[in-house]
Amino acid sequence: MLKFRLPRLAYNFISSVGAAIAIVAGLMVVTMLFVSIFTKIENPYLGIFSFMILPAILIFGLILIPIGMLRQWRKEKRGEKVEQTRWPYVDLNIRAHRNAFFIFIFGTFFFVVLTAVGSYQTFHFSESVEFCGTTCHSVMEPEHTAYQNSPHARVACVECHVGPGAGWYTKSKLSGAYQVYATLLNKYPRPIPTPIESLRPARETCEQCHWPAKFFGGMQKKIDHYMYDDSNSYHPINMLIKVGGGKRGANQATGIHWHISSDVKVEYIARDEQREDIPWVRYTNLETGEVTVYHDEDDPMTQEKIDSLEPRVMDCVDCHNRPSHIYNPPDRAIDNALNTQMINPAIPEVKMVAVEAMAEEYSTDEEAMEKIRQHINGFYKENYPELYEQEKGLIEQAIQTTREKFSLNIFPHMKVRWDVYPDHIGHFYFKGCMRCHEGNHSSDDGQTISHSCNSCHIILAQGSGETYEVTYQEEGLEFKHPVDIYEAWREMGCYECHTGTQP
Ligand code: HEC
Ligand code: HEC
Ligand code: HEC
Ligand code: HEC
Ligand code: HEC
Ligand code: HEC
Repeated sequence: MLKFRLPRLAYNFISSVGAAIAIVAGLMVVTMLFVSIFTKIENPYLGIFSFMILPAILIFGLILIPIGMLRQWRKEKRGEKVEQTRWPYVDLNIRAHRNAFFIFIFGTFFFVVLTAVGSYQTFHFSESVEFCGTTCHSVMEPEHTAYQNSPHARVACVECHVGPGAGWYTKSKLSGAYQVYATLLNKYPRPIPTPIESLRPARETCEQCHWPAKFFGGMQKKIDHYMYDDSNSYHPINMLIKVGGGKRGANQATGIHWHISSDVKVEYIARDEQREDIPWVRYTNLETGEVTVYHDEDDPMTQEKIDSLEPRVMDCVDCHNRPSHIYNPPDRAIDNALNTQMINPAIPEVKMVAVEAMAEEYSTDEEAMEKIRQHINGFYKENYPELYEQEKGLIEQAIQTTREKFSLNIFPHMKVRWDVYPDHIGHFYFKGCMRCHEGNHSSDDGQTISHSCNSCHIILAQGSGETYEVTYQEEGLEFKHPVDIYEAWREMGCYECHTGTQP
């Protein structure tokens, strides 16, 4: 008769419990592995459970087995009940030992294979967009939502936030562990503050895909504006942006990407956390060693203060700080809706009404949805009762679209709105380039960081209908403000009046 025996020491309470836990957890991991291979369920909680929690339980069970055996052995030794050896011994001629030995060998083999597959799954999973974007559901909802509508919707979060290499991987997992803790205890700030201090230098991440030497020439961009008048007049601006770039080295770089070419180093000091107020800039020509320092003449920083601070070297995110999490201001979001006819521009004053409804501060999503409807309906009922009766469908569509634009760009529970995350590209809604290029940053020898409109772009066409202007000249058109503001734009920044809602 065949009798299956294990070493005597294995027959103890703790080891048995450990074995039971390990077997159950092991079976569940295998089942979940099959589930994840053969189905397309992409649930982050399921992933955390199968690839992080279950393996931990499995390992816990396995550790209990030798602990139980060790305790048993100690107990027996104290009771003088054991053989005279100091260490447990293994004799393959004894069936019990043989069984235990083979179980151990095969068990370890399966465990190592499973762990390898499991760790790979865990690694893969913890790097996935679902994990980063949806695990802490409400915390990352703004970033995840905006990301899905951005040019980088197919780029994984970790490509920008972690990048290649083991060092940053470990760093990110450590700070990630803290973030999980902060989320569980509800200790995270709302909104999440930027700039992210620990963000990897952008050049190491962005340049995996964007190679600066290939940025040549210009980029045409047409921005569709609608005015806040009765007829929502269309006022597009079509321009050629001098992105530039060029071969690195040999002082060849020109245009906007000049700042990041290899023979140029631009550093700056900001007064505020968000790097909006920049009183000091230093440009070093790495080829010739020539250095130029620019001060904000209107509001300089004392030399003492400058010496006490560490300058920041300008990189991609000093301009492209919103490559992926783009929270459109109501003005832009509604312009896009009008341009795609999701809101019909024939509805009088609809630009103004929709922007007002979207920009109002609400405390919850539900409240926003309800009040947006009330606001738009109320306006047309009162001011255009006839139209309201005849065009109910169009007005309903405008309401639905405004709600949708709200949901995609504004997140009350995280206090995320366009105005808490300034976008540094351009100078229309935010200071952006004008943090340095406003025309008041000068060096001691009288050089000023350029402010002339044509140094960054030329306007190819502007306006529509009677106001339409177009040119094929190299120097472009002179900017014409669509309404008369006594040329105030020459002295003031656009962003001082255009804050994302009606100016
Ligand atoms: C194309 C690169 C890129 C991708 C892809 C990306 N991010 Fe970001 N993310 C950034 C940059 C740049 C910032 C702003 C850093 C700063 O201002 O210091 C940022 C900021 C953030 C912030 C801070 C709050 C905010 O809204 O600015 C969070 C949170 C965040 N990202 C999460 C995510 C998540 C989750 C994903 C994936 C769903 C993701 N990111 C994908 C580049 C990226
Ligand atoms: C894994 C590759 C990858 C990484 C990393 C990456 N990008 Fe991109 N980026 C892309 C792709 C692909 C596109 C083109 C998307 C399209 O054409 O719709 C793009 C487009 C862009 C654009 C043009 C956007 C537009 O409106 O057309 C900018 C600007 C940009 N990326 C900046 C950045 C910055 C800044 C970073 C680093 C924080 C970065 N990218 C990191 C792949 C990447
Ligand atoms: C002194 C405040 C002020 C300044 C500065 C200013 N604008 Fe305006 N802008 C207005 C007002 C007021 C309107 C009229 C709103 C309407 O009916 O569309 C307007 C309308 C516009 C429009 C029509 C579409 C829209 O969004 O309202 C454009 C485009 C525009 N401005 C561009 C600019 C640009 C570019 C600059 C900077 C070079 C600038 N403005 C500077 C006040 C200003
Ligand atoms: C001085 C500000 C600034 C810096 C620094 C900067 N960019 Fe840009 N970049 C721009 C502007 C402005 C545009 C024009 C597009 C626009 O206005 O939206 C642009 C355009 C781009 C585009 C789209 C180009 C095209 O032709 O489609 C990519 C990609 C890009 N940048 C990547 C990068 C990367 C990667 C870095 C860092 C190595 C970087 N940029 C650094 C300002 C900057
Ligand atoms: C931190 C300060 C700073 C910021 C922010 C900044 N620049 Fe500059 N920029 C400089 C300095 C310094 C120079 C060199 C002096 C000059 O040529 O005027 C320069 C030069 C330039 C040049 C001329 C390059 C050449 O061909 O010689 C262009 C174009 C330019 N910047 C565009 C931009 C644009 C567009 C933005 C915003 C997206 C921007 N800059 C943001 C500091 C800055
Ligand atoms: C330092 C570089 C720089 C200077 C100087 C500059 N701009 Fe711009 N401007 C930009 C960039 C970059 C954008 C593109 C932003 C984007 O991609 O949306 C822009 C956008 C614009 C737009 C389109 C804005 C919109 O959203 O419709 C207008 C109009 C404009 N600039 C006019 C001017 C005028 C007028 C001047 C001179 C007073 C000027 N700019 C000076 C860099 C500059």
